[in-house]
Amino acid sequence: MSDMGALAHTALRRGHQLQGRLQLRGTTVSGTAPNALIDAVRAAAIPRPSGPERQWIERIELMRKLMLTSPQPLSITDFGAGKEHKFDTGDTMTRNVSVRTLADMTKSSKKPHWAYLLFRIVRALKPESCLELGACVGISAAYQSAALELNGRGKLVTLEGADVLAARSERTLEELGLDQRASVRLGPFADTLESALTDLAPLDYAFIDGNHIESATIEYMEKMLPRVSSEAILVFDDIYWSEGMRRAWKTVAADERFALTLDMGTIGFGVVSASSNERQSLVLPSY
Ligand SMILES: C[S@@+](CC[C@H](N)C(=O)[O-])C[C@H]1O[C@@H](n2cnc3c(N)ncnc32)[C@H](O)[C@@H]1O
Repeated sequence: MSDMGALAHTALRRGHQLQGRLQLRGTTVSGTAPNALIDAVRAAAIPRPSGPERQWIERIELMRKLMLTSPQPLSITDFGAGKEHKFDTGDTMTRNVSVRTLADMTKSSKKPHWAYLLFRIVRALKPESCLELGACVGISAAYQSAALELNGRGKLVTLEGADVLAARSERTLEELGLDQRASVRLGPFADTLESALTDLAPLDYAFIDGNHIESATIEYMEKMLPRVSSEAILVFDDIYWSEGMRRAWKTVAADERFALTLDMGTIGFGVVSASSNERQSLVLPSY
């Protein structure tokens, strides 16, 4: 990107941030989990982590930095949607094997500001049982399980199809001292989701960050919803990544089982809340 292009991009992002913050200020929601989500979004918009929170974030970001410079080759089986699914019709799954570096794979981790938002949500909701679909090298799992560690309760199970990535994410969690809070399960989601849900039910929180195909996304949501607790947050990543994902998000946003849906551009949230007395669909500009 040229210097002018970069400046224009930054200005646009700042504009969106400002618009989002103003909109957030006037937003009220009803129910425990919806309020936890909105509190977390507000807190993440102007980050002021406490001392212990900052220490965890710095340790995880140091780990990310080390992995981002690692030329270590990894032989990856791609279980996900793959690039060709940008225009997916939702049915087939790629199973390509490619050799990538650890640095390359680390680039698909959630960027620090999004990972911090997930951290804030887990801090605010205080879930007991959490699930992640797509561990990759373990960065988002580390953020979410560090939040559980600071909460002093709760467990995360993260699912990963590629064996080398499952091993790497396990190592990331171990090296950070988070392996008591989080465990990695190896296998395609089609084989591991059902038993993970049985073990975790009732589920308080899920982050769906793999296999971004319309039919798969809806299938994961349909499997989760009967097993969620009365106050639960489902996080859907990459909701505008493809035409199929746009349609998937439309389906989620229209689902009456959610008391609140929140569209933040890249990420969408579906919130179940027995304590809410209304149904709201909010759109906040990406931040
Ligand atoms: C975007 S990455 C996850 C990034 C990670 N959540 C983070 O932010 O640190 C998606 C991961 O999901 C895994 N994945 C995608 N589709 C899958 C499937 N159907 N079964 C199992 N794993 C899958 C991929 O191997 C990849 O590691």
